Amino acid sequence: MDERLGGQPIRAAVMTMSDMGSRGEREDTSGDRIVEFLAEIKAELVDRVLIPDEREQIREHLCRLADVAHVDLILTTGGTGLSPRDVTPDVTAQVVDYQALGIAEAMRAYSLQKTPFGMLSRQVVGVRGSTLIINLPGSPKAVVECLEVVQPVLAHAVELIRGRPVDHTPPTPKA
Ligand code: MTE
Repeated sequence: MDERLGGQPIRAAVMTMSDMGSRGEREDTSGDRIVEFLAEIKAELVDRVLIPDEREQIREHLCRLADVAHVDLILTTGGTGLSPRDVTPDVTAQVVDYQALGIAEAMRAYSLQKTPFGMLSRQVVGVRGSTLIINLPGSPKAVVECLEVVQPVLAHAVELIRGRPVDHTPPTPKA
């Protein structure tokens, strides 16, 4: 665990938005990648859901996890593109108190280096109450790539949202 968190691990939840996945027609490998990432950073997995691309269900779970479960972090995957059923970013933007544009921009910028399709993700990042919500695209590859981007700032971001006095020293870059 990152020493910044003062012994309190990040309490996290994973939400996969997928019509096919929710009908059992597709494995939730993207959700699996997120769970593996959370284990690597020694976060506590509090909840994991697999739901269709339905606005009301997405809103319900985002609000429950933030307002009732009080998780530090919700990582969503899927539904960030341009098809009519891709509504995750719209619902996320509606439920957050404020957006963290820099995090979303950083993920998109990195994604664009990997594939021109990176610009097709409308992923949103924001804070509701004391919960950081991060949208990730739907493919396992995109999930891994975007998590690479946020990993170095995650503990600091959570600490800021928890409202404790914080150490603003940036993480040491990898050799
Ligand atoms: N970002 C990264 N890093 N790597 C990717 O392969 N795929 C893109 C994009 N972002 C991709 C990515 C593609 S193909 C699409 S359509 C959009 O994310 C939206 O994906 P979604 O609708 O599954 O959320």
